[in-house]
Amino acid sequence: MLTQQENELLTRVGPGTPMGDLMRRYWHPVAARSEMDERWTKRVRLLGEDLVLYKDRSGSFGLIGEFCPHRRASLAYGIPTTDGIRCPYHGWQFDGTGACLEQPNEPEGSNFKDKIKTAGYPLEELGGLLWAYLGPQPAPLVPRLDGLVVEGAIRSLGVSIVPCNWLQMMENSVDPCHTEWLHGNFAEFILGTGEKVPASRHTVKIGFDEFDWGIVKRRLLEGQTEDCDDWAIGHPLVFPNILAIGSHDVNWTMYAFQIRVPMDDTHTLHYWYNAFVPPPHKPAPQRLLESFDVFDVPFADEAGEYLLRMTHAQDIMCWVTQGAIANRTLEALGSTDRGITLYRKMLFRELDRVAAGADPKCVVRDPAQNTVIELPLERQLNARTNGFARSMRRHNVRFSHQLDDLIALFEENPKEAATAN
Ligand code: FES
Ligand SMILES: [Fe+2]
Repeated sequence: MLTQQENELLTRVGPGTPMGDLMRRYWHPVAARSEMDERWTKRVRLLGEDLVLYKDRSGSFGLIGEFCPHRRASLAYGIPTTDGIRCPYHGWQFDGTGACLEQPNEPEGSNFKDKIKTAGYPLEELGGLLWAYLGPQPAPLVPRLDGLVVEGAIRSLGVSIVPCNWLQMMENSVDPCHTEWLHGNFAEFILGTGEKVPASRHTVKIGFDEFDWGIVKRRLLEGQTEDCDDWAIGHPLVFPNILAIGSHDVNWTMYAFQIRVPMDDTHTLHYWYNAFVPPPHKPAPQRLLESFDVFDVPFADEAGEYLLRMTHAQDIMCWVTQGAIANRTLEALGSTDRGITLYRKMLFRELDRVAAGADPKCVVRDPAQNTVIELPLERQLNARTNGFARSMRRHNVRFSHQLDDLIALFEENPKEAATAN
């Protein structure tokens, strides 16, 4: 249980808040590079700020405040220039630092433009994503997590905007027991066919260890021994806001990052970043290796009912029904919630470090430590032992334009590959 004050401290991310300051020490993805192929601008809401991502005519990207400092028109409708963007209303031009380069209708020789500045933030491209940094200079490096930089992978990005605070989504990532219930027993109830799903196997033991990049969580399931991947390797919460999940076959690797980007206190951009490395005997077609598929991941139907047959929608139902910001003064944490307690303790500790002027955990500045960040990932994840096709059709990848290609490459059982559901 937290006090109201502690709950506020951990959840509020707007400018000037302590958690907002901590979150501003990290790079956050704001778009896939491929999303900008056919467009010049994209609205971005990040940490309570309204911004515009734009592409200029030389192909560079910028991220600046959405509302023009002249009379507040939206730069999401701006006109790209060689080295910036012009407001559609009166043509003031800005560059990626937020400096005003030109005011076409001011008298010649006027220096009024030099007094005008809007927000402007650095961007970097990595793993097919555009990452933004809203913190103090000098900016750290974008962490080169293994799945972002691995060669020969088929990459995609699922996207949802989830109407709740980022913290309840992250706390779910240090809550291994929910798998047995939400994705196991509850899923079987919803399916209603009598089918047993692998996730409903009973959890006997859970474990959590802080490590350099966050928290490794482990689970031991009924019938498993401690040398199984679920226990011996586990998978990590990458501090502060990413969950990495392992493969479900030894023959190939799936890197799956769930990145929870706080848009504001009550909305979170949920990215499912997928990088599939095919088995050596099945080379992927070049067109798949070159593509970067971006797809929307629906979690509710038109009537607002959750699509509860799917794993991601089961999670989102539980996150959103906790409230826009979960009221942690009313919770009752049990022994299985000690991963959540550990994670909160780390957040409080890192808030203190930032307040003291130090870099928080997982801020990377040394290029030698950032060639590739290898994360511990189980290679045989129990929850997905019912085959590739079946597992993918109940997860975000169901909505990827690559689904059929991926099943053709990764599913070993031809009958499963051909099943419509
Ligand atoms: S409102 Fe943007 S130039 Fe006038
Ligand atoms: Fe889950």
